[in-house]
Amino acid sequence: MKNLVALLSTISTLVGPVFTYKCYSGFSSNSTTCNVSETECLGDRCMTACQYSNYNGIVYKSILKSCANETLCGAKGSALMEKAKYRFYMNCCTGNLCNTDGYGFPTEDPTPNGAKCPTGYCTGSLLECKKDKEMNCTGSMDQCFEYRGDAIDPGHRERTFSVKGCINTDSCKFNFDCAIGVSEVKKKFVNCYKLHHNQGNSSE
Ligand SMILES: *[C@@H]1O[C@H](CO)[C@@H](O)[C@H](O)[C@H]1NC(C)=O
Ligand SMILES: *[C@@H]1O[C@H](CO)[C@@H](O)[C@H](O)[C@H]1NC(C)=O
Ligand SMILES: *[C@@H]1O[C@H](CO)[C@@H](O)[C@H](O)[C@H]1NC(C)=O
Ligand SMILES: *[C@@H]1O[C@H](CO)[C@@H](O)[C@H](O)[C@H]1NC(C)=O
Repeated sequence: MKNLVALLSTISTLVGPVFTYKCYSGFSSNSTTCNVSETECLGDRCMTACQYSNYNGIVYKSILKSCANETLCGAKGSALMEKAKYRFYMNCCTGNLCNTDGYGFPTEDPTPNGAKCPTGYCTGSLLECKKDKEMNCTGSMDQCFEYRGDAIDPGHRERTFSVKGCINTDSCKFNFDCAIGVSEVKKKFVNCYKLHHNQGNSSE
């Protein structure tokens, strides 16, 4: 019997897909660690998703472990605005229970990249935030964005945001749809654009 078990696990290593793969799964919206359980997955890939948000000094660090979502694998999101910052990183790995990595992000390049965007941070209204200042974008954030929406933050408070700033491609692509621990009540407006030189305003 013992030999049979050993044989079966050898086959499982060799044949793989015949057997079910597992990943760690868990979630914490306000902590860099989460309690995990094992969950069965269709593929052999697992994911650890990390998120950092800082709006007006209120910081949330969130982590999610699950089967991999191939659409998100490798995505590195960054957005920076006056008084607020948002980052996410979706790290995928291959192998049974491989997502043992902790909370972390790839290093971010703080060097200005030449892009300049209007920035503003308003709460409590879905109207355009008109308190525009100009900011220098850094690193991978080579586009401007404007977001207006109503969301429930990880502290379970509903907040209405109207913000503008610099953003990178992955953040635009996923439109904040993959935010961890945040549920969107209403998205009114989201726009990413490249601001050309000598152009004071975006054409929406
Ligand atoms: C993990 O589980 C323990 C015991 O159930 C609990 O006390 C702790 O708060 C949990 N930690 C997190 C990050 O959820
Ligand atoms: C942006 O960079 C320019 C130099 O390219 C600098 O003169 C300006 O002060 C910077 N603006 C801010 C808000 O840091
Ligand atoms: C989030 O965690 C911080 C520090 O661990 C704590 O001070 C804060 O109250 C927590 N926020 C919520 C909404 O649970
Ligand atoms: C994977 O992530 C994308 C983007 O957030 C989402 O639209 C899609 O539903 C996710 N797929 C699964 C299987 O969860």
